[in-house]
Amino acid sequence: MDVPIDDVMIVTGSGQGIDMISKLLVNPGDTVLCEEFCYQGAMRRFRQLGAKLEAMKLDGDGIVIDALAAQLAALKSKGITPKFIYTIPTIQNPTASILPLDRRHALLKLARQHNIAIFEDECYADLLWQGVEAPPSLYALDPGCVIHLGSFSKSLAPALRLGYIVAPAALIAELRVLRRLMIRHPTAFIERSFAQFLALGYYDAFNRRLVAVYTLAAAYAGAAGALLAAFFVLYQWLFFTYADGTPGMRYAKIALCTFEDENPTRQQMRRRIVALLLSALPVGLGFVWALFDDDRMTWHDRISRTYQRSYR
Ligand SMILES: Cc1ncc(COP(=O)(O)O)c(C=O)c1O
Repeated sequence: MDVPIDDVMIVTGSGQGIDMISKLLVNPGDTVLCEEFCYQGAMRRFRQLGAKLEAMKLDGDGIVIDALAAQLAALKSKGITPKFIYTIPTIQNPTASILPLDRRHALLKLARQHNIAIFEDECYADLLWQGVEAPPSLYALDPGCVIHLGSFSKSLAPALRLGYIVAPAALIAELRVLRRLMIRHPTAFIERSFAQFLALGYYDAFNRRLVAVYTLAAAYAGAAGALLAAFFVLYQWLFFTYADGTPGMRYAKIALCTFEDENPTRQQMRRRIVALLLSALPVGLGFVWALFDDDRMTWHDRISRTYQRSYR
C-alpha cells in the first residue's frame, strides 16, 4: 500500500514505537484496552505512564467483538473513553492468532462508533508461513483511525533496531518532535543501508528463504513429535506386554483396567503395578520438569501467568 511520506516515521524498533506513542498519548489515569493475553513490554510501558489497563476477551481468532462491544458500552456508562485499543492483529503475542477480516471490520466500526483510536502492533506480520495468509492490516482498511507499528526485528534481525510508525500526518509531526527530544534521530547509516537492501529486493528474497526454512523446521518438528509419540506408545506396550506375558489386545485391556474375567496371580499383579508405574514415568518426569524449570513452562502456563500478573 502506498503511504504519504508525512505519514511515516522511522523508529529504533517497535519497542521504541510503543514507548513514543504511549508517551505522547497516555496520561496518568487513562484507560488503555489490551488483549487479555498481551505483550508484556507494551503493558509495562502503558502502566509506567499511569494507564489503567482493561483486558479485552480473546478466543482462538483474536478479539471477541461482542464482548468488546459490551465492555465499551459498560465503560461509556461509567463515563470512561479509553485512550486507545492496543492490539496485535496478526500473529498475536502470545496466542499467535490472526484476526479474521470480518472481525477487523467490526473492530474498526466499534472504534469509530466510540471515537477511540486503534494502535495496531504488526511487528510479526511479515512472518507468515506454511501458506497462511493474513487479511490487510487495520491501517490499510481504515487509515483514519489507526496508528500502525511495524518492525524488522522479527523478520530480519532484532539487533538492526529498525521499525516504523504509520499514522495521520498530524500525529507523526508530534512524534517527530518527541523523537528529537529522545534520540534526535535513528542511525541514518542503518536506515540508508536498509533502504538499499529493500530497493534491491533482498528483503523479499530473504523473507522467502526464511519462510522456506521455517516450513522445513515445522516439518522436522512434526516428524520429531510423531516419533516421540510412537516411542511413547511402544514404551508402554513393552511394559504392559512384560506385565501380562502376552502382547496385543491385552495391552488395551490392562490399560483400561478391565480385568474382571481374569484371575491374576500375585506375580502378575505385581508386574502390572510395576508396569503401570513405569509406563507413567515419562509423563511424570515431564510434569516434574515443567513444574520446576521456569524456562520450560508450557504455553498455557506462560499465558495464564502473564495474565495473572498483567491485570492485577
Ligand atoms: C508484540 C511486540 N511488539 C513489540 C516488540 C518489540 O520488538 P522490537 O523493538 O525489537 O521491534 C515485541 C518484542 O518481542 C513484541 O512481541
